Amino acid sequence: MRVTVVGTGYVGTVTGACLAYLGHHVTCVDTDETKISTLRRGESPIYEPHLEDMLRLGAKRGGLEFTTDLVSAAVTSDVIFIAVGTPPLPTGEADLCYLEAAARSIGTAMDGSRFRVVVNKSTVPVGSGNLVETLVREGILDTHPESRQDILFGVASNPEFLREGSAVADSLYPDRIVVGTGDARTMAIMLELYEPLVAQSFPAPEGLPRSESVKAVCLLTTSLTGAEMIKYAANAFLAMKIGFANEIANICERVGAEAPEVMAGIGLDSRIGAKFLSPGVGWGGSCFGKDIHALLHMAQEYGYESKLLRASLEVNTAQRHLVIQKLQEKLFILKGRTIALLGLAFKPDTDDLRDAPSLHIAERLLQMGARVNAYDPIAMNACKELRCDLKIRYCDSALDAARDADALVVVTEWAEFRSLDLAELAGVMEKAILVDGRNVFHPGDAIAAGFDYTGIGRSTPRRKQEAIASAGSRKHNS
Ligand SMILES: NC(=O)c1ccc[n+]([C@@H]2O[C@H](COP(=O)([O-])OP(=O)(O)OC[C@H]3O[C@@H](n4cnc5c(N)ncnc54)[C@H](O)[C@@H]3O)[C@@H](O)[C@H]2O)c1
Repeated sequence: MRVTVVGTGYVGTVTGACLAYLGHHVTCVDTDETKISTLRRGESPIYEPHLEDMLRLGAKRGGLEFTTDLVSAAVTSDVIFIAVGTPPLPTGEADLCYLEAAARSIGTAMDGSRFRVVVNKSTVPVGSGNLVETLVREGILDTHPESRQDILFGVASNPEFLREGSAVADSLYPDRIVVGTGDARTMAIMLELYEPLVAQSFPAPEGLPRSESVKAVCLLTTSLTGAEMIKYAANAFLAMKIGFANEIANICERVGAEAPEVMAGIGLDSRIGAKFLSPGVGWGGSCFGKDIHALLHMAQEYGYESKLLRASLEVNTAQRHLVIQKLQEKLFILKGRTIALLGLAFKPDTDDLRDAPSLHIAERLLQMGARVNAYDPIAMNACKELRCDLKIRYCDSALDAARDADALVVVTEWAEFRSLDLAELAGVMEKAILVDGRNVFHPGDAIAAGFDYTGIGRSTPRRKQEAIASAGSRKHNS
């Protein structure tokens, strides 16, 4: 099939490359000329494991092109994906200006030569499918007022569930594909497009083997509205699950329990599942916060106030402050202290800093008069560009960041941090204080290396002693 993907961000580029790998001929479109030139050179504008390999393989197997000319790409396409950004407005609702511009341009590209499907992959509020249809029709009316009756198209919603950092694997071996539409012809085209993914009939690319458990992928067909709602509900649930783990971790710390142990114990319940139960400094990224705000806004439009969603946002904000509180507990005064941050990206294996906890923490520390050193294996350039206002000292290594610092904070759980020589780090610091915001290290190892260690939801030996003693005295008194 001939496919156009509008928007070459994290979602569009991965979708385009993977569809081309499946054998479709794909043209990716963006208004950003720099991104298009980079992609034309076979380079990825973002850091995403395996993406450059997929760009090369996609070009070889199905054909993969890049252009800024949406109209000429869409006119020869059977399926046109919209994968543009839907950032939050100050009110919390999703800003649909990019989606609207893309849908209108797609309308101007339409002619009567074929039936086309316009697929919305961006995360958009319920009802946006209808909006896309209206805007495409308006585009048609502007350019082909005479022949508008002969120009046929359908609209589908196909929410994206990929995770940055494992986006290519998530796209090739998804847990499920959701397609929402009320039109049978549109659904038939979508089923044909995704047939190789559903049947898993394509050869696994080198370096991304298909796991034994991946046999066939479930494709769930729904209404347009159902598909739009599934995306928001899935993200809200995942954010809530992490928030729950953090709440329990905070209680664990007080009562003298080890949160990782508790999470392992509840995660083994098949009704709960072990994923997304790691306590830490809170979630971040471009989606969770934005999507929960948008869902809250949507609910309010219908007169519903979701207390659970609101609490989920509050719990996450508080979790980011926890790092500052822990530093204050250890150092008392932060003014003039040097705090070293390990990790800036909102999660490992990406350079994405949108709504990253690191930015929130760095900003607060700088406001409080602390000096901030930072080291991230990939995201430092992106951070310099995105937040040139933050006076961070960027360092070449974790050791460089730790040198003469008063405390070290693990913000992102990059794999390379796990093998750091803790004794060496502690040895170069002014004060060997470690706030392990992702529970990367074993407390015993960190303490043995000379650190004053505090994790998230982990009771230090002293706290444990206090908890045991106070439980003992309560018993005695009663
Ligand atoms: N990033 C993720 O992990 C993820 C996961 C699932 C869903 N989503 C959703 O997918 C959508 C895209 O997210 P993203 O992270 O890829 O965004 P992004 O900001 O990385 O990329 C969006 C791209 O769209 C381009 N664009 C904007 N208007 C355009 C137009 N009219 N024509 C052509 N190109 C245009 C921009 O230049 C940009 O390159 C959002 O709605 C997001 O919520 C994102």
